[in-house]
Amino acid sequence: MTSRPRSTKSLSTKAYRSSRSTSAPKVAAVTALAPPSVKTPPIGRDEFARRRRHLMKTMGRDSIAIVPAAPVHLRNNDVEYAYRQDSNFHYLTGFPEPESVAVLIPGRPHGEYLLFVRARDPQRETWDGRRSGPSGARRDFGADDAFPIGDIDEILPGLMEGREKIFYTVGVNREFDRRVVGWVNGLRAQAKQGRHAPHEIVALEHVLRDMRLYKSRGEIEQMREASRIAARAHVRAMRFCEPGRFEYEVAAEILHEFHRARADISYLPIVGGGANGCILHYRENAGELRDGELLLIDAGCEYECYASDITRTFPVNGRFSPAQRAAYEVILEANLAAIDAVRPGNDWNRPHEVAVQVLTAGMVRLGLLKGRVTSLVKSMAYLRFFMHKTGHWLGMDVHDVGDYKIGKAWRQLEAGMVLTIEPGLYIPSGTRGVPPEFRNIGIRIEDDVLVTREGHEVLTHGAPKDPSAIETLMAAA
Ligand code: GLY
Ligand code: MN
Ligand code: MN
Repeated sequence: MTSRPRSTKSLSTKAYRSSRSTSAPKVAAVTALAPPSVKTPPIGRDEFARRRRHLMKTMGRDSIAIVPAAPVHLRNNDVEYAYRQDSNFHYLTGFPEPESVAVLIPGRPHGEYLLFVRARDPQRETWDGRRSGPSGARRDFGADDAFPIGDIDEILPGLMEGREKIFYTVGVNREFDRRVVGWVNGLRAQAKQGRHAPHEIVALEHVLRDMRLYKSRGEIEQMREASRIAARAHVRAMRFCEPGRFEYEVAAEILHEFHRARADISYLPIVGGGANGCILHYRENAGELRDGELLLIDAGCEYECYASDITRTFPVNGRFSPAQRAAYEVILEANLAAIDAVRPGNDWNRPHEVAVQVLTAGMVRLGLLKGRVTSLVKSMAYLRFFMHKTGHWLGMDVHDVGDYKIGKAWRQLEAGMVLTIEPGLYIPSGTRGVPPEFRNIGIRIEDDVLVTREGHEVLTHGAPKDPSAIETLMAAA
C-alpha cells in the first residue's frame, strides 16, 4: 500500500532535521527543501483552445460545430447517476456542467467559441450546487462569449445562418437531434425572407476521434496518474485478499483506493473468484473467495476524465498451485510478447497475432489443445479458451475512439497512441477434454501501453504481474 501524501510541512520539517545531522543527508535535504512545485493542471486552458483551433481549421470557414454536454441520467425516481461529462464536450471545453452547449464558428469576427450554460440561480445553487453561469464560462473557460442555455432557441439559428455545414454527432442524444433539425427547419421555412439554412450535417465525431487517438503530453500525464492509482488499488487488493473474504469486500478496497485519489471507476470493476473469473464481464462481485482458487480483478479508474484499465489474476491464498502457475506463465508470456510488439511501424493487429501464437503454443503445452500450433492458429482453435481480442484503444473512454483499420488495412501504431494488452485464458468447469486441475481457471493479465517514438512505455507497471513477486507481496501482507 502507498503511504499517505505527506504535507509540505512534514516534508520540510524532516528535511530540516536531516540537514543538521550528517553531511551525506544534506544533499537529500537540499532537494527536499526546494520549494514545492506548484501543481499546474497538465491540461490547461491553452490546450483546450489548441484543440478547438485544430478542429475549426479542419472544419473550414463555411461551417459551424454544435456540441452538447452529456445529459443527466436518472437512476431511480428522482435520484441521479453521478454526472459524467460527454468525452467530446470535455475534450473541447473542459467545462464540467450539464445542460451546456458549445458552439464553434470558424472565422466569426465577434467570437468563434461560444458556450450556452445554465444561468446563475441562487435558489437552485443552494439546492444543487454552484454554477459558473455565462460570466464564469467566459472568465474561467475561455469562451469568447457565453449565454444562458434558455436563450439558445433564439440565438443559435442566427449563428447557423449562412453556414453550409453543421458538424454534429447524430444519434447519441435523440432529444438534442430533434432540436438541431428544428433549428435547421426553422431557417428553411424562412427561405423566402432570404434566410439561408445549412444543407449538410457532417459527422463531428469522425474528426474528433482522429484527434483524440493521439495523446498530448498533458493527456499522457493524466493517463500515467490514472494508471498509478489503479495499480495501487490492485496492490491493495492483493494484500487484502484471503480465503473467506467476499468479492465485494475486495471491490470495496479497490474503490477506496480510487476515491481517496479523487478518481472514480472507468467501468464496473470485475472481481471474480474461481469460476467467476471465466465470465468475461462478470458484474455481481458477490461470491466468497475460496482457498485454492484464483481471483481475477479487472478494475481501472478514471482520473480527470482519463481512464486506466488493469487486470491482474492471483491466488486467493497467496500461493499458485503448480497447474495455476503453469497456466499463468503462458498468459504472462503472451502479455510480455504482445507488449514487445507495441512499437511504431507495427500495425494494430500485430500484438494480437503475437499473443495468439504464444497462447496457442501454451495451450498445446498445457494439454488443452492437440495438434500443430500453425494449424491450430489458422483454424482459430484457441477461441475455445481465448475468445476476445488482445486489446483496444484507451483514453477518455475505456474503449476509446479511433479507427482500427484505415480502409482495409490495419492501422499503423504511432507515438502518442495508448492501447491495452490483455491476453487471457478461460476454462469454465464444464469444459470437456481438459485435465481436471485446469478447470475453473480464468486468467487475464492486462496492461496499458503508450506507443513512444522508440517503442513503448507500460503505464501500469506499478501492479505486479510476475508470479513470484505477487506471492512475495501477498506473503508480506
Ligand atoms: N475492462 C474492460 C476491458 O478490459 O476491456
Ligand atoms: Mn481492456
Ligand atoms: Mn479491463
